[in-house]
Amino acid sequence: MVSENPIKGELKMATIIDGKSLAKKTRENLKIECDKLKLEGITPKLAVIMVGDNPASKVYVRNKSRACSDVGIEYKEYLLPEETTQEELINLIKNLNQDKEINGILLQSPLPRHLDINEAFKAITYMKDVDGFTPSSVGKLCIGEDTFISCTPYGVMKMFEEYNIDLTGKDVVILGRSNIVGKPLIQCCLQKNATVTVCHSKTKNLEEHTKRADIVISAIGQSNFVKADMIKDGAVVIDVGINRDENGKLTGDVDFEGVEKKVSYITPVPGGVGPMTIAMLMNNVIKATKEQQKEKSML
Ligand code: GUN
Repeated sequence: MVSENPIKGELKMATIIDGKSLAKKTRENLKIECDKLKLEGITPKLAVIMVGDNPASKVYVRNKSRACSDVGIEYKEYLLPEETTQEELINLIKNLNQDKEINGILLQSPLPRHLDINEAFKAITYMKDVDGFTPSSVGKLCIGEDTFISCTPYGVMKMFEEYNIDLTGKDVVILGRSNIVGKPLIQCCLQKNATVTVCHSKTKNLEEHTKRADIVISAIGQSNFVKADMIKDGAVVIDVGINRDENGKLTGDVDFEGVEKKVSYITPVPGGVGPMTIAMLMNNVIKATKEQQKEKSML
């Protein structure tokens, strides 16, 4: 759509950030890496654990398994019944930690209510933490060390990189403070020299924050929450939400039609952040495999 760029005083179209294409390109490059590993006799392997019968998780897990097969990563699913105990889950994770055939472990969230997900994540060994959720990975991210970065924030950062969106000195407003997206995003954006504000359900006058933001990243999980009048002209809007609206249609957190008219860059849903999350998971599995090989060769 066409909008007036207040800085240049000229008409400017918003650039739609094409996560689908970038994810495809990323997967193709990872396939080359994976093929190289196979020539050395190493096939990366991801273990995915799912507990119970969450329909959304089933869709995510199916997409992850397809991406693995695209890249050439072996994929093994562990489907545990709803009534699985914490001890059973931890025991499985411990076995997978020791299993030399497995390079990455992903515990699909959410878990049934009776299970403690943080305790379960803590049981995953750092070397196989392809989701970047263990305290070691999170801690390393905070102090700026190389680590496994949570896949959605990592995917968002790759989008900024691809579209040459420089975060230095920019006011970034993140909506949502989850451990999976909001919190790691703070660190990622800080590392790129942004000034970061995090808004959440208890934030007062949320619009005052979003209206002055150069970049808004929404990860709250509410259809059409972010409206055009909450956004500054020419801002960048990244939509992490994956929701269903009242008609069952897949939507993000952003009122795309309205917001697109006034921004410089925007991600669509579907075809935006979602495919990048999965591509970065593939990236982390290859990274884990290579690092485990390096460690083996040093023994
Ligand atoms: N549930 C929703 N998103 C994710 C994700 O990126 N990783 C895991 N493990 N569970 C999720």
